[in-house]
This record gives sequence, C-alpha cells and structure tokens, in this order.
Amino acid sequence: MNHDYAICGTRNSDIGLPTGLKILQEGGTALDAVEESIKLIENNPYDITVGFNGFPNLQGIVELDASIMDGKTRNAGSVAAVKNFRHPISIARKVMDISPHVMLVGEGAEKFARALGYQEEQIIDELGIRNYHNIMEGKSLEMPLEAQTLVRELFMRFDDHLKEVMEDYSVREWYRKLSFDRHGTTNVIALDMEGNLAVGVSTSGLAMKFPGRVGDSPIFGAGIYCSNTAGSACTGTGELAIRLSTTRLVVDRVQRNIPLDEATKMGILELKQLKEEGVLHIISLDKNGKCAAFTNKDGLFHYYADSSMVKPEKRSSSYVEIK
Ligand code: GLY
Repeated sequence: MNHDYAICGTRNSDIGLPTGLKILQEGGTALDAVEESIKLIENNPYDITVGFNGFPNLQGIVELDASIMDGKTRNAGSVAAVKNFRHPISIARKVMDISPHVMLVGEGAEKFARALGYQEEQIIDELGIRNYHNIMEGKSLEMPLEAQTLVRELFMRFDDHLKEVMEDYSVREWYRKLSFDRHGTTNVIALDMEGNLAVGVSTSGLAMKFPGRVGDSPIFGAGIYCSNTAGSACTGTGELAIRLSTTRLVVDRVQRNIPLDEATKMGILELKQLKEEGVLHIISLDKNGKCAAFTNKDGLFHYYADSSMVKPEKRSSSYVEIK
C-alpha cells in the first residue's frame, strides 16, 4: 500500500529529520527513518542534551538513555545509563531486533554493545567538560554563594557521605535549583508508506543527575509509546512522565477515538494531578500523518514534514497553562 508518509520531532531534531524524510520518500521504514534521524542528533556536539556532549551526571560522566518502538508489532528496545557509546539509539534498536529482552541498563547494555562491535569512545569533549564545570562552579546558576558551596560539597562527598549530606543540606531543594529546567531530549516519530508508525527517543537526561538516574526516555509508556494508531513521546522532566504513564495514556486515548490533539493535550493537563514543578512537552503522530504537540512551557516548538513537503517546517507547540 502506498500510504502518505510523515515525520515529526522535537526542537533539536531539525538536524536529523531531513535524513529521515528522505528515507521515507524512498520507501524506507519508519523504524529506519527514526534511527537514522536520531543518530545525526546524537552526533551533534553542540546539542548538550543528547548523545555526544550530552549533559553529564553529578560526577561529570555522560550516561545516555534511548529507546525505539515499532507500532506495527509493538516490539520495543531501550537502554539506560549507558556510558562511552555515541549511538544509544542503535543499541536500543539491537535490543529490540536481536535480544530476547526489552531493556538493558548500565554495564549490561555496554557489554551487549561491545559484543555487537560498537566502538567505545570518550563522548564528552573540552566544550562539554567546560559546560559541566561552569554548572558545578555555579557560574551559570543564579544561586547564593552558600548554595554553590553546598553543591560542591555534595559532589565531592557523593560516594562516602551521601546520606549524611542529604540529611544535612536538604538535597531536594538544592537539587531542584541545580538541575531545574536543565534537560533536553530528542523525539522522532515517523509514519512510512506502509502505514507503519515508529517512535525513537534519545537523551543524556537531566543535567547533574545522580549517577544511575533513569528518566522517562527509555521507559515504555512513560516517555515513549507506539501502536499503529498513534505514536507519542515526551521531553521535559522525566520523573513526571513516569509517574503519569504519559505516552501510554495518550496512545490509548487515540485508540479509543479521542482526537489526537485532545488526547495529547490531556497528557499535559494530567500534570495537575501531581502538583509538582516541572516541564513536559508531548509530541504525537497518528496513522493519518497528523501531528500534535502540547507543553506547559511557553515558547517550545517542534518540526514536521509529510509527503507534500520538501523539508521539515518549524511549528509552535501549543501551550497549556497548569494551575
Ligand atoms: N525527559 C528526559 C529525562 O527526564 O531524562
């Protein structure tokens, strides 16, 4: 069947979407369009939220999360907290395609990648290291000097005295200031000529996360979900999407014939249930190539292209106020 194709992605996906669009134009699969688009975004050293030069964790180490899901079969693969590999999206694809599992984390995911012949490399350069030190030293934070000192204390004492430091210095409040709104993720959703949908997500997660912290991006039903009716993915504060099962609910609503816009907007409105600070940006694409994007942060945007277009266009995402 010759179906109209379409592709969309979040704010930083513009570097990858033209390649994904070309794959779809040539009759390639939604899964390939998603993976190849995301690889280009992971390669971009100036994108400090994904792949190479992604935000490091509290101890200066880049730990990456990525996932991919096939709408036709609902096969899925993800990796979390992976170090020293440039393309976690490709490792996630292999988890889906050749492993008996859905998710591999940390050392196990790295062993799997090594066994498949993926090259290990340093995935942070001088620019990334400088950014990290700027944040740790508080240069880019509007924090009182005293709070900056606490930041460094926690960082240095993380291994040996975590419990003591957390109790002493009310880490939750400190951490909120350190990492608030310092996150980013790439989402790509594609619909191919066969009418199959796929979604992929890749991120370095929250800046200055605790080592081992995993966000919503590799969690199916939270930051990514896909059937052949609709695919949906999130950027923003991953903890919120995990707690709300955001994307599974969006896709479920579309399957129950709720219009895509409404189904996606409701994902943002559900934030009210948590009474929590944080940002969420949800992007969805349905089997007709219609895209919806809603967020509780003003000014966010996404990219979209379909069979009638020669290149992706930038579109504003709809703002929803959460009170
Ligand atoms: N949404 C990306 C993360 O929280 O890790």
